[in-house]
Amino acid sequence: MKKLVMVTAMVVVLLGIAVLVSACTGSQTPATPTVPAVTQEDVTKAIDAKFTTYDGKLPLWTIQPGTAPRMVELTIYFNNMWFGAQAGNWDLARFEAYRSEEASKAVYVTRAKRIDTLKPWAESALPALIKAIEAKDKAEFEKAYDTAIAGCNGCHAASSGGPLKSMAPFKITRPTAPLFSNIDYKGP
Ligand code: HEC
Repeated sequence: MKKLVMVTAMVVVLLGIAVLVSACTGSQTPATPTVPAVTQEDVTKAIDAKFTTYDGKLPLWTIQPGTAPRMVELTIYFNNMWFGAQAGNWDLARFEAYRSEEASKAVYVTRAKRIDTLKPWAESALPALIKAIEAKDKAEFEKAYDTAIAGCNGCHAASSGGPLKSMAPFKITRPTAPLFSNIDYKGP
């Protein structure tokens, strides 16, 4: 019986404290802040934006190839393209021209500052090569090829890269030897 009285008294005291606390703080309880509703579409848009525009603070972006690795690719494609065309393997040459377009487009995404110089080259030199390749016209191909590599060198002279104020040291020429001994440039 004594125990019951004590428990009841404690409950009453605790209730009292609770009432007091709520009385003191009740008026100060901040209104629940109105959080703007975020829809799934908003989240998707925000994620897409992060994946669309280069952001050097994000490791996933910084590990993407910039200009130089794509340039090495272009060098490979231009070597293959030449020997494909020389062997009359126009399909091989056509593929390398396509890859050159793709490599250029990749630079626009990771190094937007190169668009102004790379795009005019890619959108004139490469279509001229493709036209000659599709026409299977060796003379036209060689003409377009020389124009294209003059464009490589023109752009190098006018561009800085890494520690260099000018990329002129990279002088591109017609190739004299295929890069790969395990490709039969004549095809099947
Ligand atoms: C935008 C104009 C531009 C055009 C057109 C261009 N380049 Fe480059 N190239 C550069 C720049 C800029 C660099 C330095 C890139 C860097 O610092 O990341 C470079 C670097 C290079 C390098 C050195 C890469 C390395 O990592 O060692 C090679 C090789 C190269 N280019 C080949 C070519 C070839 C081949 C072509 C034509 C088929 C070409 N480039 C067309 C601007 C250009």
